[in-house]
Amino acid sequence: MSTLPSTQPAPLRIGPLELSVPVVLAPMAGITNTAFRRLCREYGAGLYVSEMITSRALVERTPESMRLIQHHESETPRSIQLYGVDPKTVAEAVTMLVAEDRADHIDLNFGCPVPKVTRKGGGAALPWKLGLFREIVERAARAAGDIPLTIKMRKGIDADHLTYLEAGRAAEGAGVASIALHARTAAEFYSGTADWSAIAKLKETVTSVPVLGNGDIWSAEDALRMVAETGCDGVVVGRGCLGRPWLFGDLAAAFNGDPSTGSGQASIQPTLGEVAQAFKRHAELLVEFFDDEDRACRDIRKHVAWYFKGYAVGGELRAALATSSSLQQIDDLLAQLDWMQPYPGADAEGQRGRAGTPKVPSLPDRWLDSRELQETHRAELTEAELSHSGG
Ligand SMILES: Cc1cc2nc3c(=O)[nH]c(=O)nc-3n(C[C@H](O)[C@H](O)[C@H](O)COP(=O)(O)O)c2cc1C
Repeated sequence: MSTLPSTQPAPLRIGPLELSVPVVLAPMAGITNTAFRRLCREYGAGLYVSEMITSRALVERTPESMRLIQHHESETPRSIQLYGVDPKTVAEAVTMLVAEDRADHIDLNFGCPVPKVTRKGGGAALPWKLGLFREIVERAARAAGDIPLTIKMRKGIDADHLTYLEAGRAAEGAGVASIALHARTAAEFYSGTADWSAIAKLKETVTSVPVLGNGDIWSAEDALRMVAETGCDGVVVGRGCLGRPWLFGDLAAAFNGDPSTGSGQASIQPTLGEVAQAFKRHAELLVEFFDDEDRACRDIRKHVAWYFKGYAVGGELRAALATSSSLQQIDDLLAQLDWMQPYPGADAEGQRGRAGTPKVPSLPDRWLDSRELQETHRAELTEAELSHSGG
């Protein structure tokens, strides 16, 4: 049992938006589509960010990007994350979202560690080129007008090439409404534990806009601890809610001072039947999102292990759920579960989702030689926007 802070943070203000609890669903490519965001929102409060959308694809109005920017009418505020490397294209994408009234909040992703992105100078490699970073953020913030424009970044490329403090100051000067830090370097990928002390340092450095902490929040208690240890103004929660949309209920309760937080246990402890119902609802919402039952049933497969983590569900049944191709089949399989099976406790909690080992970041040739963008890197950068897969 750990000691929790006695003071709760104030509601979080991001520009004109006021969030009743300082909690943000982290953008996750392939996960935080409108279906998953709606499900999480049904349990909690806060801000629920879309998966990242490439600004070039958006400007070109590709069918995929137009689908990804969709929100359900129940989603307010509407939040969209963009990824881009070219100031003009990012500004055009922001202008489009604002002019067409498609978002109430826009976030820019500077945290992607995926080699095929950093190899071209994109994602977490980009803030190293501070002038380019500043230009992207400035132009985007200007294009956003009254819509709050925020950024999300990592600590830097690796331990010897940290960028977050300078980038934080630059973003603050460029007019962002908040700054989120995933407290790992690109080299760390998702390995080890996030370095929350970096969040505290950023909070000391950036004083005029909220600083949001991100990395390794697996429970509401972790969220309160991050706020207490770092002084951050809010938390961004990613992998911890995979297969556990009710974590947002726990988070809301904890930030509202629920005394059960701190017992070391989740305050929402679903039976297997309740998990099955959430899984089913997720699948149904995905059918609405994709407008394609087969595609939705294929998409929900990746969530099976997360939802049923820790519950006694036979291997055959798990495998069948992970290969089902219709809602009827999913229903029939879920009916075979013991719906009264109680919450298994710690086995259902803790780490989930991507982990992995540290990697030497792939970068363009001689990228680290200078903090200024060299002409030789421009062509590669353009390609950085053609391949993407989240942060
Ligand atoms: C499957 C997956 C996809 C992700 N996609 C994005 C993304 O599109 N944009 C982004 O900024 N970060 C992305 N991230 C990073 C998360 O937003 C978050 O920073 C990271 O998972 C650390 O937070 P956590 O420890 O709470 O998971 C992704 C992470 C995962 C696991």
